[in-house]
Amino acid sequence: MKIFYFTGTGNSLAVAKSFGGELYSIPKVLKSNELNFEDEKIGIVFPVYGFAAPKIVQEFIEKATLKSPYIFTILTYGNKTGGSIKWFVDFAKKNNINVQYADSLLMIDNYLPVFDIEKQKLKPNNINENLNRLVNDVSENKQYVNSGTYLDSIATNSIQGLIKIFPNFNSVKNFSVQNNCNGCGTCAKVCSRDNIAINKDAGKSKLIYGDNCEFCLACINLCPQKAIKLKRERNPNARFINENVTLKEIIEANN
Ligand SMILES: Cc1cc2nc3c(=O)[nH]c(=O)nc-3n(C[C@H](O)[C@H](O)[C@H](O)COP(=O)(O)O)c2cc1C
Repeated sequence: MKIFYFTGTGNSLAVAKSFGGELYSIPKVLKSNELNFEDEKIGIVFPVYGFAAPKIVQEFIEKATLKSPYIFTILTYGNKTGGSIKWFVDFAKKNNINVQYADSLLMIDNYLPVFDIEKQKLKPNNINENLNRLVNDVSENKQYVNSGTYLDSIATNSIQGLIKIFPNFNSVKNFSVQNNCNGCGTCAKVCSRDNIAINKDAGKSKLIYGDNCEFCLACINLCPQKAIKLKRERNPNARFINENVTLKEIIEANN
């Protein structure tokens, strides 16, 4: 079994690891020239972004050829999935990828503009119990797509429409680097888009962001100095990494 995953702060990697297959990082696959894969079972695990899929996952689906009699997908999320599951299954189908099983898993919400990670850690979520059910379903080759309602699909279309109208809503323009940045480069290493450069010329480290940001918030959440802030965020001191994943694993996944 091959499992393709994308992660910013470890939730989706933790889930991908639980299925026990051969892991493939989507950012790394996209940087390689090998985009044809075949197996008796293939999984795709990623976080919900704006009631849909991250751009990098969409790019993977558009470019990759996946051949398997059983393709499953698990979307990790922190609050509401909207119509993301159906949206993704339809998007995959348009790209000749037929998904047999698709469901979601409620985890910590890492969207810092809206959620305080400290409060997120206190919410009941039954992650292990729900994850065991998903793993069991997939081991039995269960056929199921958690399609949601018509209103969920409208929610996805509305949010995706707004994202197109306001492309700067989730952009690096909202980031501000504080003086305690010591130029360690962790932010650049966890960036799946190679979108961060460190300029040490000025005697003082300076981060230079490009314009290809996924807004996964890994650079902000994983900065050892907590030196990168959002201009508007719920709790500037609360940061997140999934407890079953190490910083080294996220660097290896995204670098
Ligand atoms: C840009 C962005 C958009 C998000 N949109 C949603 C959303 O629409 N619904 C939701 O429930 N969670 C949303 N989240 C939360 C993530 O889906 C959730 O925390 C996920 O488990 C993070 O996975 P990761 O740790 O693998 O990056 C969003 C997070 C980010 C960074």
